[in-house]
Amino acid sequence: MSKPHLLQVGPLPDGDMVPLAQTFTLHRLFDAADPDDFLARTGPLIQAIATRGDLGASSDLIAACPHLQIISIFGVGFDSVDLTACRQRGIRVTNTPDVLTEDCADLAVGMMLAQSRGLVAADRFARDGSWLKGGFPLQCRVWGRRAGILGLGRIGAAVAKRLDGFGMEIAYSARGARPGPAHWAFVPDPVALAQRSDILFVTLAASAETRHIVNADVISALGPDGMLINISRAANIDEAALLDALEQGRLGSAALDVFEGEPNLNPRFLALPNVLLQPHHASGTVETRKAMGQRLRDNLTAHFSGQPLPGAVL
Ligand code: 8YV
Repeated sequence: MSKPHLLQVGPLPDGDMVPLAQTFTLHRLFDAADPDDFLARTGPLIQAIATRGDLGASSDLIAACPHLQIISIFGVGFDSVDLTACRQRGIRVTNTPDVLTEDCADLAVGMMLAQSRGLVAADRFARDGSWLKGGFPLQCRVWGRRAGILGLGRIGAAVAKRLDGFGMEIAYSARGARPGPAHWAFVPDPVALAQRSDILFVTLAASAETRHIVNADVISALGPDGMLINISRAANIDEAALLDALEQGRLGSAALDVFEGEPNLNPRFLALPNVLLQPHHASGTVETRKAMGQRLRDNLTAHFSGQPLPGAVL
């Protein structure tokens, strides 16, 4: 039997390439010198797309593949896949939830600790001789402070569970009250959530409805002593409002794993001492990326063997 034709939108871990090549005829869009020309020639062959959470599949890409049956995402986020186009054409869409939840929560908590206790600056301080001239400036404690979780899905709940261990007061916003410990307070309005939080974690799945849900009002409510942590998608935050507030000291600090136009960061971020910048790697552990690759392949092979899809989005 001939192998189905698979379009690979971006690089995937090396360990996934051998098994993928055994099952599929691979076409690497990201290697093409002229992607439009490449798509015009190979698009009509393509039956499956393998993409990443950060790369997705645009309406143009989907339209260039008239025989496309399935888009398998290496990641949990499907905000950059044109689901409307997929629905119209009956194209299946799958993702890799669950396997990355705990690592994403670990990074969020790591970012909170690093930013609250100044770990990056403290490392520099210990290396560059500053310590010889005096002690490191006092930082802010984490334990006992008030945390807000914007979006109590799998990842948000895993963050909240960890914060319980720090004796933090926990409140969250979500579409409705979620099952969880009674002491996790449900505060539906994001501004009210920010108002009662020292540290606000943005952990909600991005969609057209959540675009800029963290707006200037939420940022003001968090205030000059507040910290904003984003491990979801850049589009959930009004980045211009965030930059203004950080530059003017109206927001204390931020720790960000995702950016508009990443990996090209707005240079204004680079000049700010009160931001911790991370290169979109919340799911970036060897173990999790391996599990994500397995899920990506499981979804594809299930589809082409007529089995139920383990990670069906559509
Ligand atoms: C990326 C992500 O997929 O899960 C998501 O939605 O954004 C990440 O896990 C990862 O960066 C792989 O490129």
